[in-house]
Amino acid sequence: MKDPFRTIQWKDNYIRLLDQTLLPAQEVYLEIRTLEDLCDAIRRLAVRGAPAIGIAAAMGVALGVQDFPGDDRKAFGKRFDAVCAAIAATRPTAVNLFWALKRMKRVLAGSASLGVEEVKSRLIEEAILMEREDRLLCHRIGEAGRDLIEEGDTVLTHCNAGGLATAGFGTALGVIRAAFEQGKKIKVYADETRPLNQGARLTSWELMKLGVPVTIIPDNTAGALMQRGEIQRVIVGADRIASNGDTANKIGTHTVAVLARHHGVPFYVAAPLSTVDMELCDGSEIPIEERDPSEVTHIAGVPIAPEGAAARNIAFDVTPYHLINGIITECGVATAPYREAFRKCFLMKEKEKI
Ligand code: MRU
Repeated sequence: MKDPFRTIQWKDNYIRLLDQTLLPAQEVYLEIRTLEDLCDAIRRLAVRGAPAIGIAAAMGVALGVQDFPGDDRKAFGKRFDAVCAAIAATRPTAVNLFWALKRMKRVLAGSASLGVEEVKSRLIEEAILMEREDRLLCHRIGEAGRDLIEEGDTVLTHCNAGGLATAGFGTALGVIRAAFEQGKKIKVYADETRPLNQGARLTSWELMKLGVPVTIIPDNTAGALMQRGEIQRVIVGADRIASNGDTANKIGTHTVAVLARHHGVPFYVAAPLSTVDMELCDGSEIPIEERDPSEVTHIAGVPIAPEGAAARNIAFDVTPYHLINGIITECGVATAPYREAFRKCFLMKEKEKI
């Protein structure tokens, strides 16, 4: 089935993205024409999900340098660095953002002999390529993971790791979608994912569009359903995976992993290798975003707590590697010991040009 929406796209001289803060009530596409608007869109989650944030960052670099006047390469380099710094300051956890900036920096470094206008074009080309590649990678992740889901399974997922969180098809939802497209009769439970309700608003929206049976549950319901034997698999996405397999994902993922282990339910992570940060020894080194408490005390601007109530809004948690049965990548399913498995995946990626 064709993707029912386009998450993010480079248009002639602007970035077109589906405003995820308005879903599911309204399907509005934003036309992002300035670096400031792009940074704002990432910060307020109009574009979100690790791979999509990476693509937004790359397109943001291309956009942010377009109005640089003249042909002074040194001054252009300074502008490029300032644009990268602004984007790097938006959200800290998804490593795909920093991976994308590095990739754009490589393009700049590799075009030392070119004039400014040509470099600008190269940067646009690279950002467009990254969007296209991401869609292909998601399909590969789907193929690599679909056999982990059996006929009749009910799969729990947390947050949104679907087409909306990528260039299309998704990671965790890509695996679910690939199993569904094989003809397997499967069902999905979507954790609502407080405080911003990505599961209730986004995962249910995209699975319903695809015809995959989905039921939303409050975040505190998963344990009861596992206890009743009503969940056979858990598949989630990732924002950053340390080299030992410790995985940062939306807050609440760790709770689900502990419950899954207690109840003997296999727990899988699905992510492209661009989400693996081999520079980090373990999950304690992953920077975790903490957001405005008003997102906890209010829903869509409406207060649900007494005025002045204290609240914490930690956006991600880290699931230790030993609670993860496998990490599904574009190069197959990695299992512990993960450092070794990731090395093999990266080698395979380079050798087979995946
Ligand atoms: O705060 P968000 O909505 O950007 O968080 C997104 C997640 O936690 C996703 O599960 C993760 O980025 C994987 S997306 C394929």
